[in-house]
Amino acid sequence: MRFLRIAGITAALLAVVALGLFTMASGRQATSELPVAYNHRVHAGENKIPCLYCHVNARRSSTAGIPSVERCMGCHKITAANKPEVKKLKGYWDRKESIPWPKVTWMPDFVFFEHWPHVRAEIKCQTCHGPVETMDRMRQVRDLSMKFCVNCHRRKKASIDCAVCHR
Ligand code: HEC
Ligand code: HEC
Ligand code: HEC
Ligand code: HEC
Ligand code: HEC
Repeated sequence: MRFLRIAGITAALLAVVALGLFTMASGRQATSELPVAYNHRVHAGENKIPCLYCHVNARRSSTAGIPSVERCMGCHKITAANKPEVKKLKGYWDRKESIPWPKVTWMPDFVFFEHWPHVRAEIKCQTCHGPVETMDRMRQVRDLSMKFCVNCHRRKKASIDCAVCHR
């Protein structure tokens, strides 16, 4: 029975894999220009702003979240206020619009992932996202394959039950 259940899950998963792989492949590209030329190297690298200062939700939620314009303006009402890209940022603030950041990293729909258990277990963001603090333009450099997830789960004695990641 257990085998049949797993075989069933596997068949259902395989059916959506083609689509999943397709969207993952297109998700790794970062060709278009950002609406505001935000730069992780300048912020998280040179100025050592902690990842969690901007991606606050990662501590308690499934998603890490992208910071609001308000969070940016907390510094940029003053910092570099006369730079052209910061003026663009202020434009969004004045119009009360949010910035349409393109998505870079995602999982196929048949995978369940949450940030908070990993933050609580003190796993560094860089383990899964690479050396973000050196990147002028964010891109996904780690291969977030099932093997990558399961290998660490085995090492850290986290669950490797199929249903933990496929619910
Ligand atoms: C000053 C605020 C700020 C800090 C600090 C910051 N980020 Fe970001 N992060 C952003 C913004 C804005 C975006 C969306 C624009 C982009 O993709 O570059 C983003 C995007 C991302 C993404 C891609 C999200 C997606 O759509 O898939 C990841 C992953 C990420 N950040 C990880 C990190 C890590 C790891 C650190 C620490 C080394 C960090 N960030 C520090 C503001 C910040
Ligand atoms: C904790 C303070 C802080 C926060 C929050 C912050 N920044 Fe910055 N930002 C800086 C500093 C410091 C610089 C470097 C200023 C300089 O070089 O004069 C900078 C530089 C910039 C620049 C100019 C880059 C260049 O040199 O052309 C842009 C654009 C920018 N930030 C966008 C953003 C956006 C968008 C957000 C929100 C997602 C954000 N910043 C959040 C501190 C911050
Ligand atoms: C164990 C691996 C892992 C760790 C550790 C991790 N992430 Fe992620 N992150 C992912 C995966 C997988 C996705 C795609 C999730 C999805 O599409 O459902 C993602 C997506 C994101 C996104 C975009 C979507 C969202 O959740 O808002 C941001 C931003 C992000 N991560 C930031 C961070 C930051 C900051 C840290 C450290 C505090 C971090 N991540 C730690 C694996 C990880
Ligand atoms: C570097 C190690 C590492 C990597 C890589 C990793 N995880 Fe985890 N994961 C953990 C640890 C540690 C926990 C917390 C276990 C605990 O609290 O008992 C965890 C917890 C989880 C949980 C919650 C488990 C529960 O019992 O509810 C899920 C879901 C999860 N991980 C999915 C993933 C997925 C999907 C990936 C790949 C994209 C991934 N993890 C990659 C170490 C990792
Ligand atoms: C720690 C998280 C995790 C666990 C546990 C896990 N998977 Fe996955 N699985 C993933 C991720 C992430 C992907 C998507 C990335 C990929 O295709 O490698 C995936 C993809 C798959 C796929 C799509 C084909 C493939 O290999 O790419 C199948 C089928 C699958 N899993 C079955 C299973 C079965 C059966 C189990 C239990 C024996 C299981 N998974 C346990 C994370 C997990």
